[in-house]
Amino acid sequence: MGYCSSKYIKKSMKGIILAGGSGTRLNPLTSVTSKQLLPVYDKPLIYYPLTTLISLGIQDILIISSPDQLHSFESLLKDGSNFGINLSYKAQDKPRGIAEALIIGEPFLDGANCCLVLGDNIFVSNIFKPSLVENFAQGATVFTAKVNDPERYGVISMGGNGLPERIVEKPIQFVSNNAVTGLYFYDHNAPEFCRALSPSARNEIEITDLNKKYLANHNLNVVHLDESSAWMDAGTFSSLHNSSSYISAMQKRIGIPIGSPEYAALKNSLITPAELLTLLDKAPSNEYYQLLRKALDL
Ligand code: TTP
Repeated sequence: MGYCSSKYIKKSMKGIILAGGSGTRLNPLTSVTSKQLLPVYDKPLIYYPLTTLISLGIQDILIISSPDQLHSFESLLKDGSNFGINLSYKAQDKPRGIAEALIIGEPFLDGANCCLVLGDNIFVSNIFKPSLVENFAQGATVFTAKVNDPERYGVISMGGNGLPERIVEKPIQFVSNNAVTGLYFYDHNAPEFCRALSPSARNEIEITDLNKKYLANHNLNVVHLDESSAWMDAGTFSSLHNSSSYISAMQKRIGIPIGSPEYAALKNSLITPAELLTLLDKAPSNEYYQLLRKALDL
């Protein structure tokens, strides 16, 4: 059971997937479709962050994308009932920055804590379980991973006391190789903090500035994803290609679908085996659905 006293009664955490953006690094792949609908081996990219939220036990999820692409996500994922979740959709007029997701999502969140995940981030990790959400009380939590090209990311340096010290966006000089990944937990204060942020030089409301605000308030928690977890940001040709290769190789080796919302929903008892079976009866018999059929026998 989660922590629950009259002082800390909290609304359960809701999820936001930010799936808009320009996708310029993947052009021409993204000239008529959205980056998050591109295939990563056997499924659309957005299935992966969606699976992360379902693995965390989050059932109310808002998908934000550009006005011209939102309907494609809705056609693909519908109301979420196939995965035992409730999906809502909202447009971001222009890519005005990642932190704008908390402002667009404010009415949806309605005072709840939020797990924000970027629509092009793939996490393969055993740490994403409902207990992680249940143990989140307040402040913000970011998830970091070691990278060998820290100049491409927002990075965090840790102090001798094990607490976060500095966050630097795309550092020119070496600060740390712990990159902040595209998954964040925020308490109910985040939308208000975002509304107070000024746009950066590239005219975006920066998620790093929101994280800095929590850091300044001594309210930023860091969870490091070690070597047993994989994190991929599928925003470039090579990372998209490598992600497909990785998923294909892993699925062949372990015989379990990775990044499958149906499988995650089954594991978290959001859908029953009978409901999955009904779904599979209507699905074609290809490699993806065969893996799911096999999972039902396990
Ligand atoms: P990025 O990969 O930083 O940006 P992008 O998708 O526009 O790609 P590119 O740099 O190639 O032009 O965005 C990270 C994720 O956040 C991605 O899933 C898109 C999403 N995003 C939005 O939905 N709205 C925004 O305003 C921004 C900045 C990003």
